[in-house]
Amino acid sequence: MLKGRSLIEPLNLSLEEMDELFSLAEKIEAEPACLQKSCRGKVLATLFFEPSTRTRLSFEAAMLRLGGNCLGFAEPGSSSVSKGESLADTVRTVSCYADIIVMRNPKEGAALLASRYAQAPLINAGDGGHHHPTQTLTDLLTIRRLKGAIGNIKVGFCGDLRFGRTVHSLVGALSRYAGIEMVFISPPELRIPEYLRGMLQKEHIPCEETGSLENVIGSLDVLYMTRVQQERFFNEEDYIRLKDSYILNGNKMELARKDMIVLHPLPRVNEIALEVDDDPRAVYFKQAKYGMYVRMALLASILGVNRAEYC
Ligand code: CP
Repeated sequence: MLKGRSLIEPLNLSLEEMDELFSLAEKIEAEPACLQKSCRGKVLATLFFEPSTRTRLSFEAAMLRLGGNCLGFAEPGSSSVSKGESLADTVRTVSCYADIIVMRNPKEGAALLASRYAQAPLINAGDGGHHHPTQTLTDLLTIRRLKGAIGNIKVGFCGDLRFGRTVHSLVGALSRYAGIEMVFISPPELRIPEYLRGMLQKEHIPCEETGSLENVIGSLDVLYMTRVQQERFFNEEDYIRLKDSYILNGNKMELARKDMIVLHPLPRVNEIALEVDDDPRAVYFKQAKYGMYVRMALLASILGVNRAEYC
């Protein structure tokens, strides 16, 4: 279905294609032996020019569980990029060794550029404050598994909505589903970018912006908490002033519905108090596990695995 294709942003996938990925991920979750050796002989390259725990390791775990192998680097200092090699030459070279490439880079647009030079399909694992499409697949699968469906829900996004690429990708993807309402909770300096506000207006998606989590938490089906993205700030003073704008704690959770779920792409810093982890509505670690299943489904699809042969 996705054989040979690159994935740069969520809108590269149709709703039907995403639905197929979610069904396959659910199948893998239910039957872990399914697709077990389907990528034997295939090689995944992970090129991480920025730190990562979940995205890199879940991709590597996904490939290993599919029977394939992994190579790559977790920080650019250990590659010839540190000697001045260009991104284009790096991905051209890696294409000689790998069947598929996963890349994270601090520059917006780097994944699209790299995909034009790569001879293998390339998956964007985050390009600056722009997009993070496989986090969106993770988030949507989590909503589908835990709320039963992706439509007809009110989703609150809280924290750094300006620099948070997971927010930008998820807002765009959710806007294609029926019955979605969105609430954006942030300090004025960290509001969603203007291009997203314009898109939501054009698509007539019901949404509101507020500075108060307490005022809206009781109306939400899904609360998507985010970290203030220190690495994207131009000065330390602004970061220190804004970093603890929102802290979700037990008192605030008491204002929420019994069936609301709390997502977070992680890593978390201070924005969710540890006491919330024991609340059954806190699903961010389950979410991290769904990330591996959906990345298994994605790798198998792009590498052209015949699902019927293996499950
Ligand atoms: N959610 C996410 O992208 O986490 P990492 O930065 O650990 O990969």
